[in-house]
Amino acid sequence: MKRRRDYYYNLAKRSGYKSRAAFKLIQMDERFYLIREGYVVLDLGASPGGWSQVARELVGDTGRVIAVDLKPVRVPGVEYIRGDVFSDETIERIRERVEKVDVVLSDMAPKISGVTSWDHARSIELAERAHEIARIFLRPRGHMVVKVFQGDMIRGFVKELKRDFELVKVHKPKASKPESSEVYIVCKRFRGADLNNMSDGDNHGPRDEEDT
Ligand SMILES: C[S@@+](CC[C@H](N)C(=O)[O-])C[C@H]1O[C@@H](n2cnc3c(N)ncnc32)[C@H](O)[C@@H]1O
Repeated sequence: MKRRRDYYYNLAKRSGYKSRAAFKLIQMDERFYLIREGYVVLDLGASPGGWSQVARELVGDTGRVIAVDLKPVRVPGVEYIRGDVFSDETIERIRERVEKVDVVLSDMAPKISGVTSWDHARSIELAERAHEIARIFLRPRGHMVVKVFQGDMIRGFVKELKRDFELVKVHKPKASKPESSEVYIVCKRFRGADLNNMSDGDNHGPRDEEDT
């Protein structure tokens, strides 16, 4: 039987994006001002590459996008590292390419088991790993977005994130299917060790700080 495709699926096809997920990042960037021209973006769990394509457009020719995934990412102008985010080798391979990045993105998702609490816990593990990686590579005042499936562990995770970022919002972009339990945690302005020395003029707040 032919599956019914939705609005964003068709829009992605028409716009040349590799996934409908591209629109989630576009919408979050429009609302929270995450990615600017010239930025270096680390995209974790990037395959097939919709977010990487959007990030590439936003950073332009003076920026860089480094995509990491177990599966291939084939996007012109995007640097790809094939690997598991939990392996030290992957961290070393990121380190060979960059010292610091401006934005860390994670749309990583576990293989869905169908057991809500299990899938939630696995998604939190991936998000916590993205946070660990951000702590290594994110520059002070940089931003991070991570996906999690809703559940009772979000509260504790958000608390952890609030220690590291000035602004933390749980957000569900319009392009995220209402029936999906996924939400994104948008984290702005990393409180890095050298925060007091930074003066990059990046003082944008979100357009709308309402929690969803
Ligand atoms: C929802 S998809 C990402 C879609 C992507 N943002 C896009 O716009 O095309 C989630 C990805 O997370 C990746 N992933 C899950 N666990 C991972 C891990 N441990 N290391 C690296 N990638 C992982 C999967 O391989 C999958 O490609």
